[in-house]
Amino acid sequence: MSVLIKGGRIITAADDYVADIYVEDETVTLIGESLDTSADKVIDASGKYVLPGLVDPHTHLDMPFGGTVTIDDVESGQTAAAFGGTTCHVDFIIQPHGSSFADAIAEWRSKANGKQVIDMGYHMAVTDLEDGGTLEELASLPDEGITSYKLFMAYKGALMVDDETLFRTMEVASKTGALVMVHAENGDVIDVLVKQALEAGNTDPIYHALTRPPEAEGEATNRAIQLAHLAGAPLYVVHVTCREAVAPIALARDNGWDVWGETCTQYFFNSLDDIAKPDFEGAKYVYSPPVRDKSNWEVLWNAVRSDALSAISTDHCAFLWDGQKTLGKDDFSKIPNGGPGLENRLHMIHEFGARAGRISLNRMVELLATNPAKLFGLYPRKGTVAVGSDADLVVFDPEKKLTITAANQHSKTDYNLYEGTEVTGSPEVVLLRGNVLVEGDELVASPGIGQYVARARFGKELRPTSAVA
Ligand code: URP
Ligand code: ZN
Ligand code: ZN
Repeated sequence: MSVLIKGGRIITAADDYVADIYVEDETVTLIGESLDTSADKVIDASGKYVLPGLVDPHTHLDMPFGGTVTIDDVESGQTAAAFGGTTCHVDFIIQPHGSSFADAIAEWRSKANGKQVIDMGYHMAVTDLEDGGTLEELASLPDEGITSYKLFMAYKGALMVDDETLFRTMEVASKTGALVMVHAENGDVIDVLVKQALEAGNTDPIYHALTRPPEAEGEATNRAIQLAHLAGAPLYVVHVTCREAVAPIALARDNGWDVWGETCTQYFFNSLDDIAKPDFEGAKYVYSPPVRDKSNWEVLWNAVRSDALSAISTDHCAFLWDGQKTLGKDDFSKIPNGGPGLENRLHMIHEFGARAGRISLNRMVELLATNPAKLFGLYPRKGTVAVGSDADLVVFDPEKKLTITAANQHSKTDYNLYEGTEVTGSPEVVLLRGNVLVEGDELVASPGIGQYVARARFGKELRPTSAVA
């Protein structure tokens, strides 16, 4: 199968030029001006952008959490991703307490079998080094292409680990070439504040935010940075929300430490005003770390501009409002934490980042595709448009007008964090390794087309031959 994409404006993290792209089988084999080649399929991209397929480094599909299971499984979550121009993501395997890492991997792989619409890799969320996985087994995971370890410093009594587990995992990472990821909030302090709020009869969704203050995020972020530096491990702080957490990351990076941070789309747009909405609507905005006051929006735009933060993910962790979020109708601490996002990351960041002049188109591609691919061992197979790279390509119509609404989305959830937002610019055709996935409003390819990708170790490149079917 060959595809010729004609006359598009190719935008990568570094370049911006008009050319044709020739794809043979799964790979980009030629880029040039007015290519004189025939192909099985020709796509006219004049007036359109051609972007690399986006990479989302932070998602939770089919994940048991908060007394329920996320509503999007691999098929629906990846379908939503495909319509949003994301062709590869890295999902979290959560090690169940008492389980080996091997059993956890087998369980997560079985959730994906036959359902994959886009390519995917896995991080390992370490929860138990006492009765479950061993340090030796943890050290072997990069051999299977699982080259990042995630630790939750919050969710006491569920996913949270103590500093010993955090530090031991960092020590393993310093030897195996894995990247350590942290959910940085002080879970002990939050636990105290939650109990105090409930004792005082404060049960509304807004108390989710009020019991998880920015200081709890700032403290944990700084602790993780110092411990990773001590252990000699590279660190990636997920879903950074506020100035208290941006500051220690910026300082560490200024010092030349191996520290990176991401934020997520929702933290630029949602705020305390949303979680305070009446009639339990605020529960739609219950995710962790929580929404912050609006003054943090500009902090985050500055951080992604200055590279204090280097990636924007979705942290897609979708629940139904009606039936799942309502588990916490009388007690905010029982509202499952998480929100949807896979379908609208590009829409929102293009509209309010690139079109609004806050970031360049190149920087947009870098934040949504290239940096995630580089940091998580997928580059240059993913995250750029280049000869030899996978033909994961998004033909993006910069003039298409769209009103974001749950009524038209592909996620199974019943709401959208950006309901009613009008944007200009949307993916028109999305290719995964040369296969047309999405064309207009239609999912063209069938589930099963996506593959597991064994990722390279931190700082190493992934070449096309590393794929595992
Ligand atoms: O609320 C969130 N973010 N849910 C997903 C789990 C996590 O903390 O990333
Ligand atoms: Zn988290
Ligand atoms: Zn998450």
